[in-house]
Parts: sequence; C-alpha cells; structure tokens
Amino acid sequence: GAEVVINGSSSPAVVDRSNESIKHNIQPASAKWRHNQTLSLRIRKQILKFLDAEKDISVLKGTLKPGDIIHYIFDRDSTMNVSQNLYDLLPRTSPLKNKHFQTCAIVGNSGVLLNSGCGQEIDTHSFVIRCNLAPVQEYARDVGLKTDLVTMNPSVIQRAFEDLVNATWREKLLQRLHSLNGSILWIPAFMARGGKERVEWVNELILKHRVNVRTAYPSLRLLHAVRGYWLTNKVHIKRPTTGLLMYTLATRFCNQIYLYGFWPFPLDQNQNPVKYHYYDSLKYGYTSQASPHTMPLEFKALKSLHEQGALKLTVGQCD
Ligand code: CTP
Repeated sequence: GAEVVINGSSSPAVVDRSNESIKHNIQPASAKWRHNQTLSLRIRKQILKFLDAEKDISVLKGTLKPGDIIHYIFDRDSTMNVSQNLYDLLPRTSPLKNKHFQTCAIVGNSGVLLNSGCGQEIDTHSFVIRCNLAPVQEYARDVGLKTDLVTMNPSVIQRAFEDLVNATWREKLLQRLHSLNGSILWIPAFMARGGKERVEWVNELILKHRVNVRTAYPSLRLLHAVRGYWLTNKVHIKRPTTGLLMYTLATRFCNQIYLYGFWPFPLDQNQNPVKYHYYDSLKYGYTSQASPHTMPLEFKALKSLHEQGALKLTVGQCD
C-alpha cells in the first residue's frame, strides 16, 4: 500500500506568527472529509511497533514497590521515591485493557473552541479525552461535559490552583476531582522534576477524600516511544505535547479520532485573535520561550493526517 506521508519536509519549526494561520487553512466541517479506515489501521500498526497504549498508558502496581527510586525522564540526574500513596493509586490492570471505541474526541485547550458550539458534538463521541483538568462546566456549549480521561501535568496545580496555598484552593481542586466521577485521571508524574510535591498533594487528596477517579501514571518509556514514532515519520519533536501524546495513544483503541481545540496560532482562519487557552489568560508565545514544545510543527503533521482522512480536525464552528 501507499506510504503514510505525515510530513513532507523536515524544516525546523520556525514560527512566523503573522501569517501562520493562513497557511493552515482547514476546510469547513461540511466539506468532503472522509474517514480513511485503511490508513487509520496502518497508523495503528506502525505506532504499535513503538508503544502499546494498553501498557504504556500507566505503570502498573506489579512493576513498582514503595521506596523504589525513579529517575525523571527529562532530568535524568534527579530522582524520586515511589511513595506509599503513589503506590496505592497505581492501577492493577490497564484502564484501557481490551477497550475499543468507535469514535473518540480529543479536546485540546486552544481558545479556538470559544463560540464553536462544539459541545454537543464532542459529547456524542464514545470516549472523550481532555487535557490538563481544563474546566468544562462554564464552557459546556463549546467544549461539552463528557470526560472519560483527563490529563493533569503537575504544573496545573500551580497555574490553575495557586499551589493549594489555602483551604479555598484545596477545596476547588477537590471539587474538580470529585466532578470527574469515575473517569481516568492521567498524571505524568515521572517526566520532569519539580512536580514531585504537586503530585503528592493530589495523591493525598484523592486518597483522603476517597475521590472516585481511576488514576494512571504514564510509563517511563512512553515519551521516548512517541518521539521515536514521529521521528520515523520525519516529524522532529523534542517534547511531544499532551495533545499529541493523546492522539498517539488513542490510535490504539479508537477507530475514528476527532480533534477539537488544536490551534496553536494567535489568529484564526479569518484573522481574528484566538486565545491560547479557552479558559485562562495565558498568552500565546508562552510555550515557545518556556518549554521546548513545537506545537505548530505538530499541527502541521496533524493537518496532513486530517487531509488524508486518518483523523478529523475541527478548528471552526460545529454544525
Ligand atoms: N493545544 C493547541 N493549541 C493551543 C493550546 C493547546 O493545539 N493554543 C493543544 C496541544 O496539543 C496541547 C493540548 O492542546 O498539548 C492541551 O493544551 P495545554 O493544556 O496547554 O497543553 P500542554 O502541552 O500540557 O502544555 P503545557 O506544557 O504548557 O502544560
């Protein structure tokens, strides 16, 4: 069969912010996007050579014990101890064991979702993935409510919950966690040092208040495996974003994948300003200085997959 062409060029991700969004024109939702089943299956097979979402979505209880020492993936010289709480929250079996879904939504956090009216459509998918505990209630019309898996980088505790400085913030986080109501909470605990206390606070809160979530902590090899897969497709990503990690994992258990809220550009297709996040005042450009994400490069790869029918990107309004 034909090769999967994800990225025609290997040019570095130099971002010309002034007209980047023009180059990424995506056809309106009504235009002729069709799912390409053959291609999706081929991609799943290729990705399986690098990682298996069923395994790599979380470290399992049997593989670690309290007191074990782990080297952070991005800071190899720094280590952490597996605490009793973390151990208690490790799943015994993969939360994705034997899971298969007809359609999945992955909801990124771009402000392009505002006024999209996509909430209803997002909620119709069989499995909905969200990122970084992004709020839903106040934005339900545009982002929906259904949440089957939500990620939480430790930095979210600092950025969105004031590092739990007082009882009010602890209560806010607790309410958010309770609202997850049995979904999977995916915490990258082993990626970078600096998140150690924050992960421990969240673990403690979950145990103390018997919060009904299924915790998962991505495997130590996931990041390298994901990077490896994209590298072989000539997409040179230093540190995959949460959104790209979720897409890569989702290929394993979703037949059709729909992406919303992926738009790492300050202007939309009609040249109107777009917020970096739909729910806060973080500014665009923050990532390019502070972290090695190369979102526009990832976007280019996703857009190419959209054009080939392997996934569907929605960057405008839903019908
Ligand atoms: N995203 C996007 N365009 C934006 C913002 C986010 O495409 N303007 C996508 C990215 O794939 C991102 C995901 O939505 O990973 C979730 O957004 P965010 O919470 O900002 O993601 P992180 O990658 O975790 O970013 P950070 O490292 O800043 O925590």
